[in-house]
Amino acid sequence: LGVKPFEFVVFGGTGDLAIRKLMPALLFSECDKRLPEESDIIALGRSDLSRDDYIAMVRAGCVKHMADYPFSDADWDAFSRRLSYLQLDADNGHDFLKLKEILDRRRDRVRVFYLATHSDLFGKIGDQLHAAGVITDETRIVLEKPLGMDLATAKQVNEQIGRNFREDQIFRIDHYLGKETVQNLMVLRFGNSLFEPVWHHGMIDSVQITVAETIGVEGRGDYYDKSGALRDMMQNHLMQLLCLVAMEPPAHFDQDDVRDEKLKVLKSLRPLSDADVADKTVRGQYEPGAIGGLATPGYLDDLAIGESQTETFAALKAEVENWRWTGVPFYLRTGKRLRRKFSEIVIQFKPVPHPIFNQAARGIKANRLIIRLQPDEGIKLIMTSKVPGPGGIRLQQTPLNLSFSDVFRSRSPEAYERLILDAVRGNSTLFMRRDELEASWAWIEPILDAWQEDQVELSPYQGGTMGPNASTALMARDNRTWHDGE
Ligand code: BG6
Repeated sequence: LGVKPFEFVVFGGTGDLAIRKLMPALLFSECDKRLPEESDIIALGRSDLSRDDYIAMVRAGCVKHMADYPFSDADWDAFSRRLSYLQLDADNGHDFLKLKEILDRRRDRVRVFYLATHSDLFGKIGDQLHAAGVITDETRIVLEKPLGMDLATAKQVNEQIGRNFREDQIFRIDHYLGKETVQNLMVLRFGNSLFEPVWHHGMIDSVQITVAETIGVEGRGDYYDKSGALRDMMQNHLMQLLCLVAMEPPAHFDQDDVRDEKLKVLKSLRPLSDADVADKTVRGQYEPGAIGGLATPGYLDDLAIGESQTETFAALKAEVENWRWTGVPFYLRTGKRLRRKFSEIVIQFKPVPHPIFNQAARGIKANRLIIRLQPDEGIKLIMTSKVPGPGGIRLQQTPLNLSFSDVFRSRSPEAYERLILDAVRGNSTLFMRRDELEASWAWIEPILDAWQEDQVELSPYQGGTMGPNASTALMARDNRTWHDGE
């Protein structure tokens, strides 16, 4: 599998991400026999914990977050033997020397420093690692999002990290790129001959990308209230999905070619003026409501604060100005406490050029390709068919349906499983390059600024709906509607 023996060092080892995502992902890899024998995991944190305390904490997290796929005692034993815990304060150089002592016992292994902390600390941690002399040629550093709060801070973090690591050692995570269906989007486009010839403005009317969640801020209020949906989801996950839909076919499936093509998309995005921001973006915040019959609190109740201007919903219209996409709007939206959890990309094709069956009058819409990222991963092509019967032609829209769980009976791996092992391998195809990240911040920045100055009103929406009315209006102005899953 090309995975060399490694030391996986997690900063923020007791944090939510490590316990909820990273450790379960590593344990899944253990169960699938993907971890080389001589490989260990060193968790770092500020708390004073014994190794046993930490192992108990990880086990509880894995039991909870891997409930659908229970692990065996043998797998747990093999995994827990790899785990150790070291108390470390990022300000204390002496703590880094203790880390060095451990790492120096296994000099020949790949070193992965996974920074699951706030990006404010990234520069300092990089400097400390350098000062302690633990950065070898075969060292990688993985940076969790959000990387910065805007373009200036993102550049600053990139510069700080760049002081001690080469670009090919830096792995900026966007876990959406590790999702199976997101990788499959590239296979769909570039592994089939059918789609590329119709993948352009001549055939496509518009594209919609929705990432809808039912959860609220889930105890992450401190972070989230400073961030909001635009920084938390739009700038990274949704923009990356847009890039994968819109990019040109890369010459090779490798880190340079794929990322070069994505960067070109970001650079082709039409910059937004103040007037555009007012016209083409929507910001919302959830109020009390109900999801699936259960009452849900509002954002302010969730945070137990009196006032906040942070958005929990963001929608926007983007345009990619190049030959392929001219005139094709990309509508993006994401929000918390929406009606259902689903993420999908909808490619809306244009109507047939000469409708001999009078489709429009019969309420029949043009073809639509729906790429469902979650929860039930699959691809659906909505076609027009004849309803069987002797009495003339009656039309109906029917789905051609590919459900991944029906075709592939195996467990669909979590995004982090793939990404962690890719980082060990040194393969950064599914990670964001510095220029990409900065281009994405640069495009989002006018929206951040205008929202900050209240140029776009914060629209309330009831929990359990699909966002504020302004979002429906954004589409209605273009005579379109959101596709709310089917
Ligand atoms: C994270 C955001 O990056 O993605 C969270 O910080 C969000 O706010 C999460 O809930 C959604 O990820 P997924 O994989 O559940 O769609």
